[in-house]
Amino acid sequence: MNLPKIHSISKKIFVALLGGFLMIFLLFHACANLCILRHDGGAWYSAFCHFMGTNWIVKCFEIVLIGSLLLHILLTVWLWFTNRIARGNDRYHQPSKTKTHKGSKIMIWTGILMLVLIIVHFCDFYFVKIGFVKGQYMVKTEELIENQEVSQLLQTCSQYGMTPEDFIAANEQQMAQYKDQIDPAQLEEINAQLQKMRDAAPIATIMMNAQKENRLSEDRKYIQKLSVEERNDINAVFGRNTAEPDFYYMAREKFKNPLMVIIYLIFFVVVWFHMRHAFASVFQTLGLNNYKYNKAIEIAAQIYAWTVCLIFTAVVVLVFIGL
Ligand code: HEM
Repeated sequence: MNLPKIHSISKKIFVALLGGFLMIFLLFHACANLCILRHDGGAWYSAFCHFMGTNWIVKCFEIVLIGSLLLHILLTVWLWFTNRIARGNDRYHQPSKTKTHKGSKIMIWTGILMLVLIIVHFCDFYFVKIGFVKGQYMVKTEELIENQEVSQLLQTCSQYGMTPEDFIAANEQQMAQYKDQIDPAQLEEINAQLQKMRDAAPIATIMMNAQKENRLSEDRKYIQKLSVEERNDINAVFGRNTAEPDFYYMAREKFKNPLMVIIYLIFFVVVWFHMRHAFASVFQTLGLNNYKYNKAIEIAAQIYAWTVCLIFTAVVVLVFIGL
């Protein structure tokens, strides 16, 4: 197969630009995760994730982000292979004395390790969002109540202190008892109403259970910790994806597990190594460095990598110790 010919300098510039974009995303991602530390039942983090999952500008950004990640990986592996092929079995004759070169040698390996850990991370969160993996879900309360049948059934059930199933069963029993005395047109109408109640019953039941089990967010805007079955019931009634992943509870549950904490801490160490070198590399590839600023760029790289990784680490460790 003939690969398209792109000059390796162009590939390096692309890798640097995409890497720079991914680094900015990571700082944003780390800061957003701080909302997980709030003890607000997920109100802030859920609102943030809802915005991320529904706003069309963010959705476009997400496509660009995932595309950048894939392109960044593809180009770096391609560059690595073409460099190796060009060099054959010959290694550098002179051992390198520059720090940058030492760092760049491990970039491919930290990159591969990071890719493995990103796949683990996606299985934990992102793949739940796109429906590849099952998780826990949440739904906007007002969206459920907007359905007239649901809100009517809920009102009547709480008035009589009955569950939706019991209420419908009682109505069906009464219907069976008096069916011969009711005129056929009226009977048809009652039957149609009963059917509407049966359709609304799963959602009304979910709402009543959520209230009983304290699964409403503090601001009562969301029903949280929905099971896969509950999510499927809601989506079936609305005929679209109404429920969305409950990342607040999923993250809090995940980081109670010491094994997950260790995996994520390894992830952050790898990210730190990769990012510390990547930061300086971006400046070098784009020709923005010179002897005067090299030291400052190196310090900025350290600060940036430490800041991002410490914020990520703080979230995991503080959740683990129960704060
Ligand atoms: C405490 C650590 C972390 C937590 C709790 C976390 C949580 C999440 C969650 C909940 C999502 C889905 C968000 C959504 O789409 O609405 C997500 C997506 C993502 N995460 Fe993380 N993450 C962490 C660390 C990282 C790290 C270290 C990286 C990269 C090195 C990373 C890269 C990504 C990417 C690329 C996505 C997909 C893009 C997106 O959906 O916005 N995450 N993460």
